[in-house]
Amino acid sequence: MIGIKNAAISFVLEAQNQAELEEIKLQFLGRSGQLTLALKEIPKLSLENRAEVGKLANEVKNTIEETIEQKISEFKTQKSKVTKEKIDVTNPGIRPPLGHLHLITQAISEITDIFSRIGFTRVAYPEIEWDYYAFTALNFPENHPARDDWETFFINQAPDPKKGQVILTPHTSSGQVREMLSQVAHDKINIKMLNIAKCYRRQSDVSHTPMFHQFEGLVIGENISITHLKGTLDYFVKSYFGEKRTSRIRPYHFQFTEPSFEVDVTCGVCLGQGCKLCKAGWLEMGGAGMVHPNVLKYGGIDSKKFTGFAFGWGVERVLMMKEGIEIDDLRLLYSNKLEFLEQF
Ligand code: PHE
Repeated sequence: MIGIKNAAISFVLEAQNQAELEEIKLQFLGRSGQLTLALKEIPKLSLENRAEVGKLANEVKNTIEETIEQKISEFKTQKSKVTKEKIDVTNPGIRPPLGHLHLITQAISEITDIFSRIGFTRVAYPEIEWDYYAFTALNFPENHPARDDWETFFINQAPDPKKGQVILTPHTSSGQVREMLSQVAHDKINIKMLNIAKCYRRQSDVSHTPMFHQFEGLVIGENISITHLKGTLDYFVKSYFGEKRTSRIRPYHFQFTEPSFEVDVTCGVCLGQGCKLCKAGWLEMGGAGMVHPNVLKYGGIDSKKFTGFAFGWGVERVLMMKEGIEIDDLRLLYSNKLEFLEQF
């Protein structure tokens, strides 16, 4: 009896499908199945054995039946899993949302492209900078009040005896002397640098963010004059804002340029006529000037032989001056609000 049970169970457990199970069932429990035949022998046994063997035979029968039932339900769940997981390869896929470059990244690559066409080379210098490159080497005497105009962030670290305090660079002009020093080893001075970087100042309102971007041009060579600066400025204004816009330079003061200018571009709405937006027809773009001889000296360049011009303008600012771009609050650019960013 026990032998029959063990054989039946091991067959059941090895069955691969329901048809095999049916066969096993017949083989053991069918009319001429092994167990059925064994049961038929019971009446032949002595009275005492009959009851015991009968009971055992019933148990064996139940166990075989139960094992078969279990196996059937196992097959069923496997089958339903397979149907559930079926993939319809003809279904159209779900498109992952497609991002795009940040508005400022787009502006930076456009600016880089415009200047590269007239021979400017893009460079990168530290944004965590020494006071020396951001101020001292740019002809700011120590403790000069003009340093305050840049609303600098100072890093809480012991100052270097030569280079002063560690700061977050407040303008890309800190790259000027670094660029000159990287070139003085060469025989010929021929600098056409475009330094685009993050700058930091203690400011935050609708038109200022503590972190913003500037692009700085520096050109140094023989016989470089203001006309080169004005020509470069006009080229940029036409290329970036369009043919209808024009530029002008006004006298100004910076420690590191002499003479210094403030650069204006005609308003994109009234094209210089004067309107509610600009009042007098002009929008201020930023600073420029001829490189101060003292700055050339800090850069190891002979100011009797070489002259140069520099300009430094805000990426966010020129972007806002572009026609068709209306940003009420500059801080939105860096707030990670997708509803805002996805417009561009
Ligand atoms: N660094 C100046 C600023 O941040 C701009 C500037 C650059 C002026 C180069 C003159 C020459 O305002």
